[in-house]
Amino acid sequence: MSNVKFMSGENIPLEMHKVRMVQKVNLIPVEDRVSAIEKAGFNTFLLQNRDVFMDMLTDSGVNAMSQEQYAAMMRADDSYAGSETYYRLEAVLQDIFGMKYFLPAHQGRACENIIAQTLVKPGQVTIMNYHFTTTKAHITLNGGSVEEILTDEGLKIKSDAPFKGDLDIDKLKESIKRNGKENIAFIRIEAGTNLIGGQPVSLENMRQVSKICRAEGIKLVYDASLLGDNLYFIKVREEGYKDVDIIEITREIASLMDVLYFSARKLGSARGGGILCHDENLFLKMRELVPLYEGFLTYGGMSVREMEALAVGLQETMDFDVINQTPIIVEALCNEMIKTGVPVVTPPGGLGCHVDAMEFCSHIPQAQYPAGALAVSIYIASGVRCMERGTLSEQRNPDGTEKLAEMELARIAVPRRVFTLSQVKYTADRINWLFQNRHLIGGLEFTEEPTMLRFFFGRLKPIGNWPEVLAKKFREDFGDSL
Ligand code: F0G
Repeated sequence: MSNVKFMSGENIPLEMHKVRMVQKVNLIPVEDRVSAIEKAGFNTFLLQNRDVFMDMLTDSGVNAMSQEQYAAMMRADDSYAGSETYYRLEAVLQDIFGMKYFLPAHQGRACENIIAQTLVKPGQVTIMNYHFTTTKAHITLNGGSVEEILTDEGLKIKSDAPFKGDLDIDKLKESIKRNGKENIAFIRIEAGTNLIGGQPVSLENMRQVSKICRAEGIKLVYDASLLGDNLYFIKVREEGYKDVDIIEITREIASLMDVLYFSARKLGSARGGGILCHDENLFLKMRELVPLYEGFLTYGGMSVREMEALAVGLQETMDFDVINQTPIIVEALCNEMIKTGVPVVTPPGGLGCHVDAMEFCSHIPQAQYPAGALAVSIYIASGVRCMERGTLSEQRNPDGTEKLAEMELARIAVPRRVFTLSQVKYTADRINWLFQNRHLIGGLEFTEEPTMLRFFFGRLKPIGNWPEVLAKKFREDFGDSL
């Protein structure tokens, strides 16, 4: 929010935009919500939108676009090769990031495929602050492995550390020594570290990591999908950046990296993805894969309309009043729940509010997926669809045993500029009710378990009839309210 103080002294997030197009949403009765989630195999990914009140599954591809983005879509130049739209987008990216080479891709994981195929050799390790699901899948698919070196604060649910996404520099040096630099495919920094609660990385930490990479000759790859949130936190939490232009911070970050990629479903509030780099040889190697997997080089699997929207969306990301909207709403949502004792990841990050299922559902063994059960019960209690980010989102170990996640989170994502404060308060109200009734929530078990990225399509069932019991209690407490 810009500097607007309320007379009451209350810290209320203030929207710096107005709504000019709306979509009607449905809130179906609690009994119907139980039937809907049952039909969806107790997996929120498999719910149909018609049964969802507020879709807080993700911030990916569901952000509100600006009037300038929509206007830009009208001038898109549809062409297989040589589209003017491509050159406009390339120029914007070169200007914002100061990187010479750009490759388009249809979304973030497509960039990860190209980067992993180009840089990962079998047996090599990639070192990073924390993995993202698709990132790890592409690295392991290419025979590599992932080593995470967050600082100890990073995995604490409750913390005051402003940059929980920072890499631990001592652990990094030790890891490079232990693995040997020739066995390291690359080092990866993920902005706004997704799976640990949307936690940012400080610019100072990026500088230190970059210095080590340059000295050792190891490539540094930056996942900028959540850069918008991270830029906000550098401005407000890192000393010395309050008055520095966002574009200056962005250019410095890019100058520290060898490769930068992003999901444009998040960064730039459009749909698509892209890879940037400074080095021509690396560019040429990665370029070979673009027509193979994505499409010709001047669209890379994206619609030209989305590319125009992305170019404008990236420019708007350099505006503080645009990038601050999600973090301030996330903070408001977290604070509404902290008041009643709901355990959430602190400090609040970008992306969404992350509820700690390990504590919320401490009676559910981790092998019965407490975060998955919490996501299901949040849907039953509210019609809000959120996402499990815990053991269900992990891949099993090579020997088939369950890989228990370090954190069990129910992620309530906050799509950019989509929901209002009253809707956010409703969400908190229902989760606060659920917290009082948490003993009614039970575990889940698989009925169908895919081997890859099982959280997308896996089907589960409740252990016992707890969804019905929970709905019955809801009726008792809320009467005929939806
Ligand atoms: N990297 C990060 C940090 C992400 O958060 C995502 C996607 C990707 C890469 C992959 O990008 O979806 O365009 O292929 N995150 C989404 C989420 C799916 O819901 O958090 P993509």
